[in-house]
Amino acid sequence: MKIPPVKGTRDFYPPEMAVRNWIIDGWKKVSVRNGFEEYDGPIFELLKMFQIKSGDEIVEQLFSLRDRGGRDLALRPEITPTLARMVNQRINALSKPIKWFSVPRLFRAERPQKGRLREFFQWNIDIIGEDSPLADAEVIFTTVDYLREIGLTSKDIKVKISSRQLLADYLISLGIPEDKLESIYVILDKKNKLPPDTFEKILAEQIPDTSTVRKILDFMSVDSIPQLKDFVEEGSSAFLNIKCVLDNLDMMGVGDFCLYDPGIVRGLAYYTGIVFEVHDVAGELRAICGGGRYDNLLRDFGGPPVSATGMGMGDCVLEILLKERGLLEKQLPKTKIDYFVSCVDENYKDVTVEVTMKLRSAGFSANFSYKITKLSKQLKQASEQNAAKCIIIGDEFKNNKLAVKDMATGQQELVDYDEFLSDIKS
Ligand code: HAM
Repeated sequence: MKIPPVKGTRDFYPPEMAVRNWIIDGWKKVSVRNGFEEYDGPIFELLKMFQIKSGDEIVEQLFSLRDRGGRDLALRPEITPTLARMVNQRINALSKPIKWFSVPRLFRAERPQKGRLREFFQWNIDIIGEDSPLADAEVIFTTVDYLREIGLTSKDIKVKISSRQLLADYLISLGIPEDKLESIYVILDKKNKLPPDTFEKILAEQIPDTSTVRKILDFMSVDSIPQLKDFVEEGSSAFLNIKCVLDNLDMMGVGDFCLYDPGIVRGLAYYTGIVFEVHDVAGELRAICGGGRYDNLLRDFGGPPVSATGMGMGDCVLEILLKERGLLEKQLPKTKIDYFVSCVDENYKDVTVEVTMKLRSAGFSANFSYKITKLSKQLKQASEQNAAKCIIIGDEFKNNKLAVKDMATGQQELVDYDEFLSDIKS
């Protein structure tokens, strides 16, 4: 019986592994150049940690288990709660602002679909202990910095930015009680995902007053900051805050990627201020990434009130988009080796192994064939493995000489073995 892989998971054969490594290397490089330091936590945590503030959607998608001591655990569906827990644990010792990044492997029991799996990798960048809009802008800048680096332009993707604080101010001004806000966010978050009449119907079920529903729909269709003046006070902190974030992004040179979109509310319950998602311009795919400000999470986890803002980007939609744009294959580094060591017959097999090991000890990547086949076959193997050079060991070895073939030019020269060894050592 052949055992199938588990639904929603992926096997990474070497070609898929090359893609995964290239994506993750890019995330790490851009994090470091934007001043973030790497951290990680455990793959499973106490179940209750994800039930505190992540929101119903994530809780319904948990993979949970019970350990031998009867403790309820869950595989991490996101790393933000772990980050809050870790920072709280050392809150006094850590100098602020904290700028950390991580690339966790995450698990969500979602219905597998295009761009959404049950196991995936997610790049996280977070800034903790800084409430200035410049920190929100820096998170968005770093996100765009990566997406730009891999060849995506403002014609391919847009950062849609909104503010939960602005939304809360407006909903409260319409007479909606504060304790109802969270359930309304869940509905408003679906605006861009549902047909307009279905969305209106669901909203009307929550809010019986039709004129209030109308006003919310009008607010949700605003598409520029100046238009907001008809809905909220221009001097309000929420208005000034989002304006400042967008101005900062202009100043940072990524304004053409960014726009205000009140349809972005986000599914997670802990966001308190600026929220954003990156989407493909054609709107054919799920969100490439999402994030925002979560100023209460550390306090909700038993720590002091420390502000935070950050972002998470999965590898799945990103890979689909890059493939669709023809940007993936050409950027993947080719796996290659420095040397392939071959020989003309069995008599030189031991020397072949010896030379290979010497090359490896000197820090070069080198390979040889287990079976001594015809030289032409070994040379074919060398080019299949993308070897830069091929060593050929034959009868000249009796005179302490071996041939070195440059695989790119085809040029071959006979060199003294001792000189060759001293060359590779230096
Ligand atoms: P999230 O919106 O749940 O946010 O996920 C962020 C991104 O992770 C999504 O936009 C998508 O790229 C990827 N993602 C989510 N679920 C899946 C899935 N089932 N399969 C593949 N990719 C997926 C968070 O996780 C927040 N913790 C992000 C954050 C960090 N906010 C502040 N700091």
